Formats: sequence, C-alpha cells, structure tokens
Amino acid sequence: SKQYRVAVIPGDGIGREVVPAALRVLAAAAKRFSFALATSDFDFASCDYYDKHGSMMPADWEKQLRPFDAIFFGAVGDPRRMPDHVSLWGSLLQMRRTFDLYCNLRGTRLIPGVPCPLRDPGKIDMVIVRENTEGEYTEMGGKLFHDTDREMVVQETVMTRQGVDRILEYAFTLAASRPAKHLTSATKSNGIALTMPYWDSRVAAMSARFPDVRVDSMHIDALCAAFVSRPASFDVVVGSNLFGDILSDLAPALTGSLGLAASGNIDPTRRSPSVFEAVHGSALDIAGKNVANPVGQIEAGALMLRHLGEEAAADAISKAVDAVLGRGDAAELTRDLGGKGSTTSLAEAVEKELLSA
Ligand code: NAD
Ligand code: IPM
Ligand code: MN
Repeated sequence: SKQYRVAVIPGDGIGREVVPAALRVLAAAAKRFSFALATSDFDFASCDYYDKHGSMMPADWEKQLRPFDAIFFGAVGDPRRMPDHVSLWGSLLQMRRTFDLYCNLRGTRLIPGVPCPLRDPGKIDMVIVRENTEGEYTEMGGKLFHDTDREMVVQETVMTRQGVDRILEYAFTLAASRPAKHLTSATKSNGIALTMPYWDSRVAAMSARFPDVRVDSMHIDALCAAFVSRPASFDVVVGSNLFGDILSDLAPALTGSLGLAASGNIDPTRRSPSVFEAVHGSALDIAGKNVANPVGQIEAGALMLRHLGEEAAADAISKAVDAVLGRGDAAELTRDLGGKGSTTSLAEAVEKELLSA
C-alpha cells in the first residue's frame, strides 16, 4: 500500500492541541482507505524552540523538511513572549517563501446545521485563492529619523509579473473547473495607485485567456461588505497576500467560526512539500484548555490528503465533519459552535463517524 511521509509541526498555543486531534482523524482515514502516513515530529517553528535555541528554526530546516511529501503545520506565535513579526518571519513566512508555496487555498462552505451569524446566508461555498509569496508581505523599506518628531517608516509592496500572473492563472483555472465559473478579484486600485492598478491590468490580460470565466473586480472595502450581505454570490475569490489574509478570516466567521477553516500553502509545481494548516492562529486566549475547535486542522488534513492523491479519503473526512457538525450534539461540539464539548470530543466524534461509515 501507499505510504506518505508527513512532517508534523505543532508550533504554539492551540496548534499543540488541534494537531494531535487532527492526526487521530488522519490515522483513521489511513486505516479505512488502506494507505500509511509515516509522520515525523518537529519541535521547531515554535516560541519554545526559540527560547532554547535563540532562533525559530535550525539553520538546516529546509534540508530537514524537503524530503517530506507534505508538512502538517499547527500555528505559530506568542506575542507575550516575542514580537509576532519575529516569530512569523522566522518560521511560517520563511517556509512559504523558501518553498515558493505561492498558492494559498482557503475554502469556506456553510455546513447545514451549523449556526451562522447571518439571518439568510444562502448556500455559501467559496474558495479564496490568496497570493502567498509577495505583495504587502515584505521586509523591504526602512525607518528614518529614529526617535525624533520626524520619525518615519516606509513599507514596500512588491508585485512581480510572474508572481501576479501565476496566482491569477491558478485562480482562473480553478474558476473554470467549477460549475459557476465565477471569479472575483479583490482590488483597491482607487487608493493604492501603483500596485493595485497593475494587479487589475494583469487580471484583464489573464481574463482574455479564460473567456468562459465571468470576472468581477471589487474594491476590498466593498468586497468585505458584500461578503456579509450576499456571501452565497461568491465562487472563487482571488486576492493579494494581505487582502486574501483578511478575507479568509471573514469568510469562515460568516459560516459559524474561524475555527472551521483550512489553509493549504501549495506549490502547484510540486518541487517543494506543501504546508497544510488551519486558517486561525495560536489563539493563546483559549490555549491549554482543550476547547479549541479542531475542524480547521482536520479539514487541513483532508486538503493534504487530496494533494497527496487520496481524494476518497479527503472526501470521507469532510463528509464525517458535515455529519457530526450537522447533527448538532452539544456534547460533541466546541464552544465556538455553541457546544459544551472539547477539542478531543469533537475530533473523536469525527474519527468515529469516519470509521463507522
Ligand atoms: P487567532 O486566529 O489565533 O485567534 C483569533 C480569535 O479566534 C481568538 O479569540 C481565538 O480564541 C479564536 N479562535 C481561533 N482559532 C480558534 C479555534 N480553533 N477554536 C475556537 N476559537 C478559535 O488570531 P490572533 O489572536 O490574531 O493571533 C494569535 C497568534 O497567532 C498571534 O501570534 C498571531 O500572529 C498568530 N497567528 C498564527 C497563524 C499561523 O501560524 N498560521 C495564523 C494566524 C495568527
Ligand atoms: C495566516 C496568518 C499569517 C499571515 C500571519 C500569522 C503572519 O494570519 O496564515 O493567515 O498573515 O499570513
Ligand atoms: Mn491570517
């Protein structure tokens, strides 16, 4: 039978709780669908590792992780102990860049039975395609006139033709493969006078190659409002690094909880191992209490299996999640979903559902 090598990096905070919970579900999927997951645990990319070693990751982290088929990642960051930009640029953001994981896939769907904050949501089923290697996320720029009243700081945004075109091509291709064939591009070309008009011009150029795909361009502010007022009208949404980040917390919150959403940091060329994580962070406000919702991490596992070619297992995991969430048993559900259960009770319910199907 097939075997996949998976590097497991729990990181900080609730990453250390939702990763083991999701691994139980992945192990159950492997059992039911007769493949093997050979996991190896790594303690780096965490603030604990930093405390011991003075860096977020060892110098040879890339060499250590490259041989794996995929990386299963929790969350990083503990701003009480160190600034987030230090912990994140030293870990997750470095992985995304070094492995050139330019496509960040973040799907959201409304699961029947899950209480959502909208009165009349309709059928929400969208995929956010987030550019993951450039844009607003840079360390370029500088600070001048330190500690004077003229103090100033400049932060550059980078958009390269290759970087923009490859994410747009991915998003158009994905939209073309879906029934609605509808792509929404997030922009802000009214205020951001150079990079965003450039983004829009590349959308227009790519659109000529995909005549079947209906494209809308919306300013990010209006787009956020439309996510709330008519979320079911979106299919594929493509955005720059920052806009994609913001939209991908908003979308799952509209379907009930940020804790439900998965994220795949994908290298579509498959030269590097892709990284699968939940959309949420280390949630230190609830860490250590066994109350974090594990579904985002479980769905990240499903996304990973899909990427590895185990589509039936991925589908079965999502189906098990839908069944458990849909029956709305408060003893199983976590607090963010209105339940009284725990991280482990919810993961165990999904595991059981998966094995009994
Ligand atoms: P967060 O996503 O960790 O938490 C935001 C809110 O959502 C919190 O109230 C939290 O309790 C809640 N929440 C998040 N996940 C949940 C879950 N699974 N179940 C129930 N509730 C959940 O965002 P934040 O507070 O802005 O960031 C905390 C830390 O995580 C920071 O250090 C941040 O930089 C980092 N972070 C890391 C990643 C990552 O590693 N991929 C992603 C986002 C944030
Ligand atoms: C995410 C996170 C990261 C991002 C942070 C922690 C740097 O919010 O994965 O969505 O902005 O990419
Ligand atoms: Mn984010």
